[in-house]
Amino acid sequence: MGAAGRVSPRRGWWSRAWWLLAAPAAVAAALASPPGCALYPELTRTSRATTPAARDCAACHVEQAREWRASAHARAFVAEAFVEATDGHRFGECIGCHAPGSLFEATTGPPRPRLDRLADGVDCQACHLDRGALVGPVHGGALVRPHPVRVDHDLHGRPELCGRCHEGTLAEARALAPGDARTCQGCHMAPVTRTVTAATDRASALLVALEDPVPQRRHTFDVTAVDLTDAFDLRIAVARAGDAVEAEVTVVSRVPHLVPTGDFGFRQGDVIVEGRDAAGASTGRIARALHKELGTALRPGEPLVVRGSLPPATTRVEVTLGRAGRDGERPALLARAEARVP
Ligand code: HEC
Ligand code: HEC
Ligand code: HEC
Ligand code: HEC
Ligand code: HEC
Repeated sequence: MGAAGRVSPRRGWWSRAWWLLAAPAAVAAALASPPGCALYPELTRTSRATTPAARDCAACHVEQAREWRASAHARAFVAEAFVEATDGHRFGECIGCHAPGSLFEATTGPPRPRLDRLADGVDCQACHLDRGALVGPVHGGALVRPHPVRVDHDLHGRPELCGRCHEGTLAEARALAPGDARTCQGCHMAPVTRTVTAATDRASALLVALEDPVPQRRHTFDVTAVDLTDAFDLRIAVARAGDAVEAEVTVVSRVPHLVPTGDFGFRQGDVIVEGRDAAGASTGRIARALHKELGTALRPGEPLVVRGSLPPATTRVEVTLGRAGRDGERPALLARAEARVP
């Protein structure tokens, strides 16, 4: 949430312009700076030896920075799995996607590595700094822009932006779901309406005043924050047969890439069919692991059928589709369904 005065939609600009009275000297100074002239040149410096730091962006783009900080992108260089796989960061050819310079230094192929602040991983400048300007999809109506801005409505909505590094996943989506117009951002960046910046102190309140809340997307890059009800279809058929309960579960994915997907690391999904008795206790489970490497990952539109028998005490069958973490935990629940045994 931003400062209270700016989150209420569509109030007259004058009602938010209290600072015009509060800080006339600062306003005069800010308005006097010619358009396009950076108040903070360090925010758009292009040398790869010193790139603009995420913590500087955080002073104004408070929410984007908080979300990004908690995301896998912020950990891309320091992640234990990456450190191990590169034998302590010794392989230079691995750095480009894990601690990149600006993506826009070239138009295709993986980005080039940067030389500073490697621990910040895939940071703000990588996706937003384009030759001296910060490029993004929206104009929020700010009166003063402390750095040059280039508004491009399309660039950040394209799957190709993500595919510069997520090469394998984009290729999968192209091959398995051609013509599917849904974008990576549509599922991995949850929609939210808010101002582009939020004030942290008096100076930034001045700089970011007059903004209206506009539709944007969160920087968590985590599907679990998005509504997945349409992404998977789980159907359960159960029947008593002799001394057992026979279950047949059909899972259909509508995600355009494999589930699980990913070119690197260890990623496992699973379908778990759990029997429950009248008291709710488990009577038994049937589990099926999903691995990209073993060819058992879910492919869009192709039904996966899991069959098995559960003990006669079973009165209810619960099915979950989940993703296992590297440590064997099951951090993400992707879909769930249940059925009563007749
Ligand atoms: C992996 C690429 C990526 C990284 C890293 C990234 N962004 Fe973004 N950013 C995007 C995309 C994609 C959008 C467009 C979202 C949309 O469609 O609204 C966006 C949108 C924005 C916008 C426009 C308003 C909004 O929220 O949609 C701002 C401001 C912004 N990002 C700032 C930042 C800051 C600050 C950081 C670092 C803390 C950062 N971004 C890191 C990809 C990235
Ligand atoms: C002193 C405050 C401040 C700082 C620091 C700052 N920005 Fe901004 N930024 C703004 C304002 C104000 C706008 C214009 C918002 C508008 O259009 O209403 C803006 C616009 C943007 C946009 C364009 C949004 C769009 O979708 O068109 C992007 C991208 C962006 N900033 C990224 C960054 C990044 C990356 C950093 C750090 C390198 C950064 N900003 C640092 C205040 C700041
Ligand atoms: C500069 C390269 C780069 C770009 C561009 C990029 N990513 Fe990533 N992304 C990575 C890396 C590297 C990781 C692995 C980080 C880790 O898990 O340690 C990652 C991880 C992820 C993950 C996995 C999250 C998790 O929980 O494990 C998702 C989802 C993701 N990115 C989505 C996106 C989307 C959507 C876009 C486009 C808006 C995008 N990425 C753009 C490099 C990139
Ligand atoms: C219809 C929604 C949808 C679309 C479109 C989509 N994804 Fe996904 N993505 C998912 C779901 C659901 C998962 C599985 C959850 C998981 O593994 O975390 C996933 C998983 C991932 C993962 C693995 C995350 C992890 O932690 O292992 C990556 C990386 C990823 N997607 C990248 C992309 C990229 C890149 C695109 C665009 C080419 C894209 N996704 C398009 C829904 C979507
Ligand atoms: C073309 C861009 C690119 C290059 C080059 C690259 N990676 Fe990655 N890496 C990614 C992306 C994107 C992810 C996250 C999704 C996935 O696994 O596809 C990732 C994830 C990883 C992970 C999993 C991290 C985790 O937290 O689970 C490891 C390990 C890894 N990479 C190691 C390497 C190694 C080793 C190299 C060099 C041989 C390398 N990467 C080069 C893009 C790249």
